[in-house]
Amino acid sequence: MCGIVGHIGPNNSIAVVLEGLKRLEYRGYDSAGVCFKKELGELDLHKKMGKVDNLKEAIAPLEVESHTCIGHTRWATHGEVNDLNAHPHLSDTITIDDDRSISIVHNGIIENHNELRLEIKAAGLKFTSDTDSEVFLGLMVIELLANVSLHDAVINSFKKIRGNSAFVIIMKGSREMLSIKRGAPLVCGVNIGSGEALVSSDPYALVGTADDIIFPEDDVLCSLSVEHEGLIKFYEMDKSESKRYKLKKQEMSLEISDKGDYEHFMLKEIYEQPHLIRALSQYYTLGPGKELLASIINESPKRIHIIACGTAWHAGLVIKNFIEKIARISCVVELASEFRYRDPILFTDEVGLFISQSGETADTLAAQALCKENGLKTFAIVNVEGSTLYRECDYNLLIKAGMEIGVASTKAFTQQALTGFLMTSAMSDTLNADNIAQKFSLLADRIQDLLDNVTNIKEIAEAIYLHKGFIFTGRGREYPIAFEGALKLKEIAYVHAEGYASGELKHGPIALIDDLMVNIALISDELYEKTFSNIEEVKARRGVIVTIGPENDKNAISLSDYYIPLCLEGLEELTPLYMNVATQLLAYYMAKFKGTDIDKPRNLAKSVTVE
Ligand code: F6R
Repeated sequence: MCGIVGHIGPNNSIAVVLEGLKRLEYRGYDSAGVCFKKELGELDLHKKMGKVDNLKEAIAPLEVESHTCIGHTRWATHGEVNDLNAHPHLSDTITIDDDRSISIVHNGIIENHNELRLEIKAAGLKFTSDTDSEVFLGLMVIELLANVSLHDAVINSFKKIRGNSAFVIIMKGSREMLSIKRGAPLVCGVNIGSGEALVSSDPYALVGTADDIIFPEDDVLCSLSVEHEGLIKFYEMDKSESKRYKLKKQEMSLEISDKGDYEHFMLKEIYEQPHLIRALSQYYTLGPGKELLASIINESPKRIHIIACGTAWHAGLVIKNFIEKIARISCVVELASEFRYRDPILFTDEVGLFISQSGETADTLAAQALCKENGLKTFAIVNVEGSTLYRECDYNLLIKAGMEIGVASTKAFTQQALTGFLMTSAMSDTLNADNIAQKFSLLADRIQDLLDNVTNIKEIAEAIYLHKGFIFTGRGREYPIAFEGALKLKEIAYVHAEGYASGELKHGPIALIDDLMVNIALISDELYEKTFSNIEEVKARRGVIVTIGPENDKNAISLSDYYIPLCLEGLEELTPLYMNVATQLLAYYMAKFKGTDIDKPRNLAKSVTVE
């Protein structure tokens, strides 16, 4: 979703900010802009609908340098996608003296923007965009017109808004860049050697520039200035110095953003899976994760609430099977966006388990806060170390997936489910390093074989991608994969797809079946006969059958129009994770035939930081 980058320092801030915005492209956006200070401090605003490259092209002929710049990539929430609604917003169009003209960028939602808009209009100010963000600018202008300091103007305005937000602010007559957040991601960075300071919504934007990264807590005012010793100062809302931030050495490297020989990040990430699976087993059985798993052996909650969104929720469904079958602990899986609003019944001897790639999904964070308030222990299965979820939970199980740039989650799903398997093994005290290494290695080998032989999947993708609709079905262990397979296909191929438990077809969806409808059926040794007869029912109604199932299964092969054979032997409870890679590849190649923007599908954002 929206991305923020701000930079001050001796290097050209415009170039640093544009590079940062390029890095944030993976998060999804529809317009981009920058506002920088010219030689005498005047604020110069440029914003454009579409890609960061459009913005770069528009600025290039100016041949300007600046040492203070803020930038933004917008994912529209309030107001349509156009140049005016893009950020930054600038106060110049509103009545204020020149020296105190200000510019802001915003990430998040101002929930009470309608009522504040009336207040601002009553003060005689005008709006130039339809965004909620401009309301914050209006509030600041009212404060500045009343002659308060820049710090007070930010704090007083920030106190008036409701909802999760992060802002960065610059003013013509001030050498500071200010930022503040509540419930939205924000990270600062410094490079003392080169005298540069940065602020962003994503640590990835700071890689290569900042050596130290600093995570401020909510309601901490961050002031970046080349005049500050250490380049950044932190203040509480009462203006006293704040210590509410965490400092960390930068560990990310730029190599991760390289697609290598792959045409898309998504494909690269699918192919990384065998290696990551092996590395995960090492990390938790022989490496630093071992101790962490050992520490949860004594956890025996009455019930586990798994809470997540989208693909992470599907991983939760896979993990529920592990928890209930292996650890015999009662487990419910909840959508974070529903959980938080339905006054759930919670007990202090239960655990909230939150699954998130980004660790910044707004609904998941709100659900975690609710569990914490109710006295539950909270566990995270999370990819981004240092993310808000990571910082808020009692235990953090990192999935070690590396950065995931393709918007459609692939490797994170596999790693989330496997981390859940490791957690379950620890909780049930059945964790055996050799056993895990063997299981994970078998899974990695099988996935590798599949990745080395994709011709069949490509041909099937070509044969079916223009069909009317796609129903993914699976039972038991494979049921969550039906959901995940359908989601992947919708996201990147823009076709209608649904996931169902095989046994549910007869209860309604079978009405959809005709010769233009494809059933992508997942079949394994678990509940084989029942699943088989469900496929026969679809076949009898002339549905097109694509089966992902055991190799050499003559009956299933002859029943199907297309068959993706997999060697399932010995995989047992990890079977769904193998089958899922086949659905990832099928979705990828169907999207390729359709010619969609696979890494950045329309309307989607990598990290959903608003509800
Ligand atoms: C789908 C996808 C999303 C995310 C969901 C949760 O491919 O990526 O459904 O899984 O938005 O995001 P995280 O895991 O960051 O909380």
